[in-house]
Amino acid sequence: MFRVAVVTVSDRSFAGTRADAAGPRVAQLLTAAGFEVAASVVVPDEQPVIEQTLIHLADEQDLALIVTTGGTGFSPRDVTPEATLAVCGRRADGIPEAMRAASLAVTPRAMLSRAAAGIRGQTLIVNLPGSPKAAAENLAAVVDTLTHGLQMLRGGQADCAAQP
Ligand code: MTE
Repeated sequence: MFRVAVVTVSDRSFAGTRADAAGPRVAQLLTAAGFEVAASVVVPDEQPVIEQTLIHLADEQDLALIVTTGGTGFSPRDVTPEATLAVCGRRADGIPEAMRAASLAVTPRAMLSRAAAGIRGQTLIVNLPGSPKAAAENLAAVVDTLTHGLQMLRGGQADCAAQP
């Protein structure tokens, strides 16, 4: 069972003026998909804080997966993708490509998510949008395929010839 952290990126949730609905929803979906949610944190839309949180979770807690929610849009304080790519040595562009492809069938506004994904060491980091609905829809598009990637990333058995 892979261990995962959920990071909610939201000024308002961090300040306590809006309840964090997306983080618990994402955690619920990850648990249902077979992941162990080992940490859930809320951080403000501050790039250095987001970067330090991702670094800590990846390097100190040795999580296989970090899923963020929020801060992927166009508002000036939306910097989650920039923070994510700044701490990742390798990009994993296919994941946000798949999320946006699936989401465009739901709403044209899917094109407004700048979500990124990348790999830091042995940790995969995936951004989701901030609304609970959008986060759930985006995660649903990729969650069943993440395990295969994590098996490759973590040196376990990953048979690419075996069809899902
Ligand atoms: N993707 C899906 N599947 N469903 C949605 O409702 N909302 C979009 C987009 N992706 C949406 C979606 C909207 S309106 C925005 S602004 C972007 O995600 C970015 O969201 P964020 O700023 O909360 O991260």
